[in-house]
Amino acid sequence: MTKQQLEQFKKWFYDYAATFYGDDALTNESIRLKDDHTRRMCVDIQLITKELGIDDNRKMLAETAVLFHDVGRFEQFMKYKSYNDVGTENHSLLALKILAENKVLDCLSQREKEIIEEAIRFHGEKELPKNLDEQTELIAKLVRDADKLDIYLVMINWLGDLQKNPQKYLGTMGFSAENKYSKHIVIAVLEDRTIDYKELKTLNDMIIAQLGWVIDVNFVPTLKEIKKRKLLEQMATFVPDTEDVRRVLKHSQQQLEARIAGN
Ligand SMILES: [Fe+2]
Repeated sequence: MTKQQLEQFKKWFYDYAATFYGDDALTNESIRLKDDHTRRMCVDIQLITKELGIDDNRKMLAETAVLFHDVGRFEQFMKYKSYNDVGTENHSLLALKILAENKVLDCLSQREKEIIEEAIRFHGEKELPKNLDEQTELIAKLVRDADKLDIYLVMINWLGDLQKNPQKYLGTMGFSAENKYSKHIVIAVLEDRTIDYKELKTLNDMIIAQLGWVIDVNFVPTLKEIKKRKLLEQMATFVPDTEDVRRVLKHSQQQLEARIAGN
């Protein structure tokens, strides 16, 4: 693919996102969340691919997949007023539908188009399928890393805002806001098991599960950024300071250090 194509994709995305802003403050705020998330990820993906020494063509494929991975979020919010795929619809498949309807990726070769589509299709799944070819797997893993890296920041900002204005929580994420957590989530993180969104009951469960994401991050540059930005430590401030939570944080910090060191 070419630089011009990437620029064209960016323009399409920004124009498309802009159509969802209107008079309603909550809608604008929710759209802004995903709009900004995507924009920051486009910067982070450059940082990750640069440190990994990935060639320009694959860098651009990764950036395109990042740019479009959440393009289904806007329509999802307008339709359901929710970002929880459980009970609404799969936002990755929605993204593929929107890209196809608008023929956005049709200027690419069939191969490039498929790589981007597969990376989008699987970006939110618990695990990537085992049968992806090498190129597709690389791009899919890059999108998943950049996504996790920025979701930490999204959550930290959002939880900070919620702490100041608890009345703003309207259940948009579909989880109970009661100040409890589920023991089985704590155990899953301590046992290095990946957790399905369906297993989460409360917001605290979600935060604890995200502390365990370190095992699912693919590349060292992403892990280094998590450490540098102190994302785990910041996330942990939003759950009750219990023995369980302290163990989870310590466990994840140790995982992070070990993986950065290459153990
Ligand atoms: Fe995302």
